[in-house]
Amino acid sequence: MATQTDVSRDEALAALARAQDQRALDAWRIEWFGRKDGRLTQLLRGLASLPIGERKAAGAAANALKEDLERAYEARAEELRRAAVERALTEGKLDVTLPPRPLRRGSLHPVTQVTRRILDAFVQMGFSVVEGPEVELDYYNFEALRIPRDHPARDMWDTLWIDETIEGGLRPLLMRTHTSPNQVRIMELYPPPIRIAVPGRAFRYEATDTTHEWMMTQIEVLAIDEGLTMAHLRGTLLGMMRRLFGEERRIRMIGSYYPFVEPGADVAVDCFLCQGKGCHSCHGTGWIEMMGCGMVHPEIIENMGMDSRKYTGFAAGMGVERLAMQVFGVDDIRYWYQNDLRLLRQF
Ligand code: DAH
Repeated sequence: MATQTDVSRDEALAALARAQDQRALDAWRIEWFGRKDGRLTQLLRGLASLPIGERKAAGAAANALKEDLERAYEARAEELRRAAVERALTEGKLDVTLPPRPLRRGSLHPVTQVTRRILDAFVQMGFSVVEGPEVELDYYNFEALRIPRDHPARDMWDTLWIDETIEGGLRPLLMRTHTSPNQVRIMELYPPPIRIAVPGRAFRYEATDTTHEWMMTQIEVLAIDEGLTMAHLRGTLLGMMRRLFGEERRIRMIGSYYPFVEPGADVAVDCFLCQGKGCHSCHGTGWIEMMGCGMVHPEIIENMGMDSRKYTGFAAGMGVERLAMQVFGVDDIRYWYQNDLRLLRQF
């Protein structure tokens, strides 16, 4: 004897086979699966009112029917989809040779690009690239660089301290305020001759403005050898600037104070925007301050176990974000880390 579910199955499958398009499929779905009046929905709902004895068998049959119909629906839908593609292909409406939308390729951050260009210039001049820790000891960041605790020179670097614990009057851990501690770290590890370039982040407890960020990328340079002079320092920096920005560049060195060098100097390069004539970018001076440098203090050379009458050396430290501003003509340092792709994609 054919049951209620058998009859329904035959009827539903026959109707499904007659459906020729999405519209008919949708109508079928509503007729059988519709939430309120769907015929299958009602059948399932009706189970509750059956006497206990019949409920189990009828429930199993109804659920089997539901699964069969769902499967049949998916199969028919797929059939119709394929048929539609076939038709489109034969009628020439589907162009399978149309190229896909291009994937957008990422690129290196402009500050990374400039960092690499600077490092390339130093590598070409025989320097090796090394790195050091961002969380640094007071000893390397200050003390070993001749910046003792309570010395006013510490005011040159507003420091982010890692903890406020005082050990023997000293807070030992900090976020390095510059990459200069690596001068000491390298001199401790390697005998001369030394030629290194150290890229890395430095951190300052500082208000931000168009030329100051609380985090910046620096590149530290150190050379130690017999007979090195200011002339070698100047030649190296000029070589780097010209490799980076073109052979016509000029640099200017003006005496300046940094506790770890003697003599010390600030280095400026002639403004690329106005070719040194003076514009808003260089505040009308024609020069842009790029870095500090100097001859490594003989006291540090001695502290590192070398004879300062035999060995001399030079050091320099530059801020990459400011160099990158010049390279790409960006006039606010804060743009670099706002991570607005509309800006970054341009470079
Ligand atoms: N470390 C200094 C700073 O961040 C920059 C600097 C000046 C580095 C003179 C040097 C140097 O190596 O010789 O302000």
